[in-house]
Amino acid sequence: MRKLYFGTNTKMFKTIAQTEAYLMQLTALTEDLDRDVSELFVIPSFTALASVGPICRKAGIVLGAQNMGWEDEGPFTGEISPLMLREVGVQLVELGHSERRHILGESDAMVNRKLLCALRNRLLPLLCIGETQEQKQMRLSEQVLRTQLKAALYQASGDAASSLRVAYEPVWAIGESGQAASSDYVAHMVAVIRDELAQLFGAEASLTVPILYGGSVNSANAVSLAHVPQIDGLFIGRSAWDAENFNAIIRSVLMS
Ligand code: PGA
Repeated sequence: MRKLYFGTNTKMFKTIAQTEAYLMQLTALTEDLDRDVSELFVIPSFTALASVGPICRKAGIVLGAQNMGWEDEGPFTGEISPLMLREVGVQLVELGHSERRHILGESDAMVNRKLLCALRNRLLPLLCIGETQEQKQMRLSEQVLRTQLKAALYQASGDAASSLRVAYEPVWAIGESGQAASSDYVAHMVAVIRDELAQLFGAEASLTVPILYGGSVNSANAVSLAHVPQIDGLFIGRSAWDAENFNAIIRSVLMS
């Protein structure tokens, strides 16, 4: 059976206390789930990482960071080092989320440097890619996805496929004003992503890269999105920030 991945990024929400309470509840609700069948990962704010590290480790929940600098150390005010993340138990790092690209001006070249740095430091990169509404209208979606993948993975070794995860998150589908993509649309784009990964890493290795869908996933659409061919999981924002709701979504997919 293929492993399924369920994750959430809490963005700039939840204090340390709120993150702890959330993770304790999520742990209790999901402790019977076989982590080899379904992986759970949570990506909280930087300030919460150190205190929730032990909770996640005990619960078998993978802990992620929302961003990272591209050097181990140096004069980079405001950035965080992979060594600092590893020190507090972080295993995964989210790179290139749409909000970082489009609100904070992160370029493909920056995402590439961060990704190579994550690999060097044995952190699992969760690479987020996705086209804007305008690019979709101009029928550029496929090219955008291929370019973002090629650029982010430039000079990555063949081994990168074994730790990489890709989240396909169309920019127009994310957040309050977003609308989830249809299953057919996601199926088409995921096939494009898989094809590009095959060109970069070879067909066999490309199949080992989990591809997740994100963007307005909720309890009404999770099952159909999780069943899109070649999708390995869901990356959820708002609908996962309540532990009961997240648990309900996970179970609905696992039982479908
Ligand atoms: P959303 O966020 O589920 O709230 O749309 C998804 C994301 O930004 O990853």
